[in-house]
Amino acid sequence: MPSLHPLVAAAARGQLPDWAVAGRGRRSHMARVASLLEQWGREIGLGKHQIARWRAAGYLHDALREVPPAELADLLSGRLRGLPAKAWHGPAAADVLRSEGVRDRGILHAIRWHTVGSRKFGRLGRALYAADALEPGRTRRVRWRERLRARMPVEMDAVLGEILSHRIGYLIGARQPVHPRTLGFWNSLVDGS
Ligand SMILES: [Fe+2]
Ligand SMILES: [Fe+2]
Repeated sequence: MPSLHPLVAAAARGQLPDWAVAGRGRRSHMARVASLLEQWGREIGLGKHQIARWRAAGYLHDALREVPPAELADLLSGRLRGLPAKAWHGPAAADVLRSEGVRDRGILHAIRWHTVGSRKFGRLGRALYAADALEPGRTRRVRWRERLRARMPVEMDAVLGEILSHRIGYLIGARQPVHPRTLGFWNSLVDGS
């Protein structure tokens, strides 16, 4: 079993790297996402090492969420700047983690695409996307989130389908673009492609 990068091991214990920019509210969100991931990981029978990875992803996914997008733009390649600005913090955090020596592709991919989704998500990417959407601190559509949480982690893909269908429906209703990665994530849930 590969050992955890020290930064990942610290995040699993709830200690953020010194480059993280997160106020109290954000930190509480990250902690709630991490504990949902831990709970689901235990329920599907993951071992200690995997649980630590899942918790770390929960703590690290929004490590740069509070950095103004204009500052994140310097960190990102031109290609990635085609993403909506509110999704930049994922790729930026993944890039900084890589530059710190983190090579855990499951964690990096989950964090990089946690806002828009990815058809290449593994189990951790899917669980992080769901936990970010369903964590109990979110104050809109509380009952809907409760019902979906109750079906996790057993019905993970069906629950993700409901989250995505709501999100894509919302974007269409607001006449906003749907990112191709979001559609790719949806397609991977419905046809297994
Ligand atoms: Fe985020
Ligand atoms: Fe988040």
